[in-house]
Order: sequence, then structure tokens, then C-alpha cells
Amino acid sequence: MIGQDLLGIEDLERSKIELILETAVHMQEVGSREVKKIPTLRGRTVINLFFESSTRTKASFEIAGKRLSADVVNFSPSSSSLTKAESILDTAKTLDAMDPDCVVVRHKVAGVPQRIAEVLEAPVINAGDGAHEHPTQALLDMLTVSQAKGRIDGLTVAIIGDIAHSRVARSNIYGFSKLGAEVRVAGPPPMIPPAIEQLGVKAYTSLREVLEGADVIMALRIQNERLSGAYFPSVREYSATFGLNRAKLRWANEDAIVMHPGPVNRGVELDHELTDERPSVILDQVRNGVALRMALLYLISGRAPAAVED
Ligand code: NCD
Repeated sequence: MIGQDLLGIEDLERSKIELILETAVHMQEVGSREVKKIPTLRGRTVINLFFESSTRTKASFEIAGKRLSADVVNFSPSSSSLTKAESILDTAKTLDAMDPDCVVVRHKVAGVPQRIAEVLEAPVINAGDGAHEHPTQALLDMLTVSQAKGRIDGLTVAIIGDIAHSRVARSNIYGFSKLGAEVRVAGPPPMIPPAIEQLGVKAYTSLREVLEGADVIMALRIQNERLSGAYFPSVREYSATFGLNRAKLRWANEDAIVMHPGPVNRGVELDHELTDERPSVILDQVRNGVALRMALLYLISGRAPAAVED
């Protein structure tokens, strides 16, 4: 994958997904060491180009790069020449002229990472573009599920909430389907895109029905920043209908796990208990995000595979 962009899961072959997940398992070991650093990407430069807010994704890309000994530069739009009306593409080209080995891009508009990738020499990783894709989130979710459940093939994954505006839902639908899981979605009817079943997923409007037989439950935040108008009567009504708590969790398989990409709106999509306690694996997702992003930076801007063992 050296020098290749990672723009989405839709076009990523199953064999590459498996390679990334296997490499991430090696990287997890580095995170458990006392000195969490290997020299694999020494002398390489990674630029984090985040035009939209981020806690988990941005911090984990930075930590991932640093654990591999890369030099990581965090670009901050509000203190850049974007405030002097320089365009996004000119900004990206300017940074590219400094010869980075990888550029990580998040933007609120779908397609911007791809557009940037078209003009840059450096490989581009999409860290989330509008409601389109969030490939690294889906990959870390697949890593988390494969380790929590021992497999992905044959599992039933229920994604619940604002499916229409969620890049996490879209990337996970592609990813889990490619690895042999049955993916279902549920949410208020206006938040379920009419064409969703063309992606091979079954859509439900009842929480109880979507949970019956589910091994993995992924709750999503309402993407308020992408909504105009009302999609459900009130937050209280949403949480009564689609919010998860221990009582409703009994509708799912006994050993089901609960996931959420974060940030969680406590008491809306998940109650406090399910945010903080097993079977929630939310913090495993965060931890795995570092290893997964180390694997990607290594595969995209690294050298020979043997270097992982350094
Ligand atoms: C998600 C995102 O930004 O798409 N968060 C994340 O990257 N972990 C989901 C969200 O904001 O709800």
C-alpha cells in the first residue's frame, strides 16, 4: 500500500482490509510496552490537515505517528493563511511542497480529501469527509469487533441512529459486509436513506426488531451539524424510541457488545451505564484507533514489512 491513498472503504479490497487489521495487531503490542516507540518511520513526516473538529481521530493520528517516530505536524486552519482567503487546494499544495510522506485530511464537505489527493504528491488518508466516509473509524471498529468476538464473518451488526448523515455508518456498512457480517440499520424513518437496502443492509424502524439476534450494536450520534429542520419530534422522544439502556439490550443476543464512535451524547443514544461499562467497548475502540492508524501510516508511508519488528 506504499504511496497509496486511503479515501474510503467502498473501493478497498477485502485482502487489504485484512492486511491492515493484521498489521494493527502487531502495532497493539507496541502500545503495551513501557517505551511506546519504534523507529519505523524515523525521518518521515505526517501532516494532520483537520478542517473540522476532532478529538479521537486527530489525537490518535498524532500519537500513532509519534509512536512510529515520524515527525507529525498538526495544521490548524484558524491560525493559517486560510484566514487570508488562501484556498484549500492552495493550502494543501503549499504543505505538499514541504515533502510530507502522508497527509491526513478531515473536512465537512464530502469529496474534499479525494480532491486534495488528486493534486498532491503525498498519499492522502481520509479522516472523515462530510456524510461520505470515515474509513479509519470503520477499520478500528472492525479490529475491535474481531478481537471482542473472535470473528466478523457470520455476525449480525446493528447500526442505530442517524444513518443518513453518518460517514461512520456508511464506511462500516461497506467494511462489515465485505468481511461477511450481516449489517442492519435502524433509526427514525427520515434518517434512513431510501436507497440504503441497495447496499445490502436491511432497514428497521423498531429498536426491538433490529436488536433481535444482534451480536454487535453500534449506536450513533445525531449529526446535528449536518441537519436542517426536524427529523424527530424531540430529543426525549428519540431517546425513548432509539436510546439504549440495559433493559432494551436484553432484546439482543446475550453476549452482544455495544459500540459508539464517540463523541457520545449521554442519555440520548446511550444511557450512562452503557457508556461506561461492559458490554460497552467504546474505550477499546479508542485504544485500537491508535494501533490501527499506526498500521496505516506504516503501510502507506513505511518501508519493508520486516521493519515492524524493530
Ligand atoms: C465521528 C465522526 O467525526 O464522524 N467521530 C469520530 O471520528 N470518532 C462520529 C461523530 O462525530 O458522531
